[in-house]
Amino acid sequence: MATIRLSNIVKRFGPLEVIKQLNLDIKDREFVVLLGPSGCGKTTTLRAIAGLEEIDSGEIAIDGQEVQALPARDRDIAFVFQLFALYPHLSAFDNIAFPLKAAGVAKNEIAAKVKEVASVLRIGSIIDHMPSAMSGGDMQRVAMARALVRDPKAMLMDEPMGSLDAKLREELRTELKHLHIETGSTTVYVTHDQVEAMSMGDKIAVMDLGILQQIGKPKEVYDNPANVFVAQFIGSPVMNLVDCQCDGNGDVTHVVIGERHVDRFEFSKAIYEKLKAKDFNQKSLAVGIRPEAVLVERQPTNGYIKAEVDDIEPLGPYDIVDLKVGDDVMRASTRSRYVEREGQEVWIHLDENRLHFFDTVSGESLGI
Ligand SMILES: Nc1ncnc2c1ncn2[C@@H]1O[C@H](COP(=O)(O)OP(=O)(O)OP(=O)(O)O)[C@@H](O)[C@H]1O
Ligand SMILES: [Mg+2]
Repeated sequence: MATIRLSNIVKRFGPLEVIKQLNLDIKDREFVVLLGPSGCGKTTTLRAIAGLEEIDSGEIAIDGQEVQALPARDRDIAFVFQLFALYPHLSAFDNIAFPLKAAGVAKNEIAAKVKEVASVLRIGSIIDHMPSAMSGGDMQRVAMARALVRDPKAMLMDEPMGSLDAKLREELRTELKHLHIETGSTTVYVTHDQVEAMSMGDKIAVMDLGILQQIGKPKEVYDNPANVFVAQFIGSPVMNLVDCQCDGNGDVTHVVIGERHVDRFEFSKAIYEKLKAKDFNQKSLAVGIRPEAVLVERQPTNGYIKAEVDDIEPLGPYDIVDLKVGDDVMRASTRSRYVEREGQEVWIHLDENRLHFFDTVSGESLGI
């Protein structure tokens, strides 16, 4: 069990600052997912926590003890690497048992623990195989088992499911989550798969360019993204973001999109009041709306504006539809086959309760 606290971490490789003043507070038993695009500094952050990378400044505390000067072996942290490595001359069983043997654990206890973790990760059937006789997915699970088996203070996992197929990932997501609840190891889990992040994390920490953009519960980050980056990084298909102008007109709020100034959505007056209270800048305002919050009708409907279907992507349970409104394109998700063909005219509106507004210069959400 452990808390992990990162304070003002800076890490440079030569002139390149890859971690910039990172602050992260991870509670005991918490499962935090580090999410961000390739190269944003996820692996470097994990390696710094584990002691595999020296930081340039800042403090790393585990259970309140500063550890940045301690070598990796004294931090009692298990690490599942992005590029995992097994001992090639040892079977799956012996690979998993290795850290327990090294710690002098009794033989029957080792057997029981290996069996338990192997069953969770579904590698019972290959437990006697050598790495040369394993698939990539098997090897990855053996590597995960080896880290999980020894009940470390904290677990760091760097894209542990990167090479597994979609079905197995989905199964293991659930298993891993259960295992985490049982063992209670504080976990930092790196992924760039946002479905994994949403479904596994107690919290998601979104990074970009070495900077922590936002941390919060999955639902908070999804429903209230702090800025344009988070808004468009989380959620698939991505959130629509359209330049707009906004004014209060009697009892209503008008949000006008596009160059033509004819495409105008109408909302309650409260929207304008909230924007005004945030002192919004008319010249750099964009409205954000998730595709599932774009409402689509096939008939002219009061308060809706006309759009033309540009593309239909049938995904099975639902369709993703690109809609042209003037010069803008908005994506909506609809019931499958609700929209019939490209070129079709439809009428759209935006769900007032799910509107986001951003300042396009700062990129920050206005928090409405
Ligand atoms: N040993 C190193 N020497 C120099 N630059 C490095 C080193 N390790 C990482 N970097 C650079 O630091 C930045 C962050 O790398 P990092 O591996 O932490 O990214 P990441 O978020 O894990 O990416 P990915 O999702 O591709 O694994 C990158 O620009 C990378 O090129
Ligand atoms: Mg990485």
